[in-house]
Amino acid sequence: MMGLVFTELLESAERRYGLEAVDATLARVETSTDGSYTAVARYDHRELLRIVVGLSKETGEELGTIVQHFATDLLDTLLQRPEATTAAEASGTFELLEQLEPTIHASVRTLHPAAAPPRFDCAREPDGSLRVVYRSHRCLADFAAAMIRASVARFGERISIERRLIEAEDGERHEFRLSLDEES
Ligand code: HEM
Repeated sequence: MMGLVFTELLESAERRYGLEAVDATLARVETSTDGSYTAVARYDHRELLRIVVGLSKETGEELGTIVQHFATDLLDTLLQRPEATTAAEASGTFELLEQLEPTIHASVRTLHPAAAPPRFDCAREPDGSLRVVYRSHRCLADFAAAMIRASVARFGERISIERRLIEAEDGERHEFRLSLDEES
């Protein structure tokens, strides 16, 4: 996974939990780099998971809360990147998710050939909900869910999210069904 994700995790954690907590976490977690990452290099995503678990042990914060904070901060940063220019026009989460595959993650693949962003296939359903199928060899579905929730919060929307695991011969997929709440 691109080092950018690692550098963002450490910056986000430093802002929220302080430099001491981050240093103590990196000292207790096994990393390939002694805890120093560069944005353009690539690292094993399991290392990212180890750091998140380490931060939870170090700070006593729930794992889910750490992942959500990270996703919120990461989405803010990613939306400012050149690959996300088209996202500036998205009026809400449905449109942002619909742009991920054809434009945003597609430009990531073009600009960074070694990157392997996940696939998000979207379809509008007759009842107005959005069906999103997430597929990735990294299986970071909890993180994908946190990124979707971060988007909902960012746009100030009221959207219910249901999640379902789909077992297919060529690997697991996660289906998210997003429905606008009646009163929104
Ligand atoms: C709601 C919006 C978004 C969602 C749900 C989302 C989801 C994800 C997830 C779950 C990953 C982790 C890798 C994996 O699962 O295999 C990822 C990676 C990534 N995403 Fe997104 N993303 C979003 C927006 C963006 C935006 C706006 C950018 C702008 C540049 C972006 C760029 C990237 C990059 C560079 C990676 C790392 C790819 C790699 O290292 O191979 N994402 N994204």
